[in-house]
Amino acid sequence: MRHLLEVDDLSTTELVDMLDLSRAATVPRSLDGLGMALLFEKPSARTRNSMEMAVVQLGGHPLTIRPDEVGLDTRESVEDVTRTLCCYHAAIGARVFEHSKLERMTQVSSVPIVNMLSDEAHPLQALADLLTIADEFGDISALGQRTIAYVGDGNNVARSLAIGAGMLGMTVQVATPVGYELSESDVARIIATGAALQTTNDPLAAVAGASVVYTDVWASMGQESEADQRRAAFAGFTVNNAMMANAAADAIFMHCLPAHRGEEVSSEVLEGPQSRVWPQAENRMHAARGALVWLMEQR
Ligand code: CP
Ligand code: NVA
Repeated sequence: MRHLLEVDDLSTTELVDMLDLSRAATVPRSLDGLGMALLFEKPSARTRNSMEMAVVQLGGHPLTIRPDEVGLDTRESVEDVTRTLCCYHAAIGARVFEHSKLERMTQVSSVPIVNMLSDEAHPLQALADLLTIADEFGDISALGQRTIAYVGDGNNVARSLAIGAGMLGMTVQVATPVGYELSESDVARIIATGAALQTTNDPLAAVAGASVVYTDVWASMGQESEADQRRAAFAGFTVNNAMMANAAADAIFMHCLPAHRGEEVSSEVLEGPQSRVWPQAENRMHAARGALVWLMEQR
């Protein structure tokens, strides 16, 4: 049995297999008659909907649980909630603040644990991102010739994306403001994939020649009180037409969403011809389905 807490829980071969399953025309009944618990400590539009529909497509029953219902570590420990959910479900997905809660779940779970976003990582998003890039540029095996630029906060989305892109051999260029860089351990983890990683505080340098320009919100869920301070720190990091003009001629723009138009991305770029944010959102469902098929095959 396997869990999916971060993209590099997989080998590169396993990652490619998972992406292939996400694109497969035939959908197996991997969860026929089975349940999947989906636990959310934070809000969600895409993750909840894509996961619920993926479970339905595989013949299963998704059961979404809000944290106030189970009281993670308040009404009951993470471990006891996990053991309980294992009695009824074939898999458990969780969106949490502390990544350590997911790790604690894996310690006691008899079913796969899937990270639906933690403060550290968002692997399901990265899988959908890689599918979107492959859809655009031909094939998963061809992505090694491409460069992806991430402009913005060195956050959960940046880390998982860089790890996944690195595993597929992409050159990864990350621009963050001073003080908002990826952590040293994140950088080490990305480099361990074999990725050609370049980090900078200059967004124009990062997007130079890139096939993909990616950004995310400046203040993630749980950082709302820092929003004003971050707006000031991220001045000059808005992905706008001038920044896109520095990327490759065939570059696409990506964003995990939700987006704040006028902050991390201009409306003109988000709504413009280079934007792939809606196919990217749709790919969340295909990626979730592929991940679940693969995880069910490992039991
Ligand atoms: N991209 C993403 O995870 O969106 P939600 O927060 O709406 O699930
Ligand atoms: N970095 C963002 C991603 C939302 C999908 C957050 O954690 O809120």
